[in-house]
Amino acid sequence: MNAKQLAAYRAVEYIQDGMIVGLGTGSTAFWAIEYTAQRVAAGLKITAVATSEDTAGKARERGIEITPFDEVPYVDVDIDGADEADKDLNLIKGGGGALLREKIVASASRQFIVIADESKLVEKLGRFPLPVEVVIFGLEHTTRALQSLGCKTTLRTTPGGVPFITDNNNYILDCHFEVIPNAPELEKKINAITGVVDNGLFINMAERVIVGCNDGTVKEIVKGG
Ligand code: 5RP
Repeated sequence: MNAKQLAAYRAVEYIQDGMIVGLGTGSTAFWAIEYTAQRVAAGLKITAVATSEDTAGKARERGIEITPFDEVPYVDVDIDGADEADKDLNLIKGGGGALLREKIVASASRQFIVIADESKLVEKLGRFPLPVEVVIFGLEHTTRALQSLGCKTTLRTTPGGVPFITDNNNYILDCHFEVIPNAPELEKKINAITGVVDNGLFINMAERVIVGCNDGTVKEIVKGG
């Protein structure tokens, strides 16, 4: 198993029979879907919700039924990846463009478990460009307002060169801060801009970060631990 697989495998052990489970998005979360599917095939009974259309498709292909998110009252455990995680378990997410649904599902979760390889652990958030989901109308105005917070911005595009459209029919502006000295403050400032739907800073949401290491070990960093 590689580092991503190791982290995902450990996280899936937290799923118990009867739980409502959030399935994350991205290449690490993919492995959690894979291992969850193996446990479901072996008899585990869960209700699963997805953080993106891509994840819903991958889960269904593997025999996991996906329940619409509004049909569950809460989520017992949500397992998702991250682009960066700091020692306070604050995160940058949204590299895969699914940050809004990921944040909504994580907010409804009793336990939000992040899975990552070692490369995602950072001293300070910000080297990874912060994804911000914005409505299409007024893009230039929203872009300027974001730039006034001290970043360069890039409109996310597909490999074909057209703007990337999220599952919620919005654009993503990737904001290059390089370093974010005060992530909780920035999260609020960005979301106060009209035209911004949400941003990829996940503050004080993760309960546990499970890190797969290249030497084959797995470490768990727990909130307050
Ligand atoms: C998608 C995400 C992903 O969880 C994040 O980008 C990490 O992805 P990967 O596991 O492929 O590195 O936030 O929107």
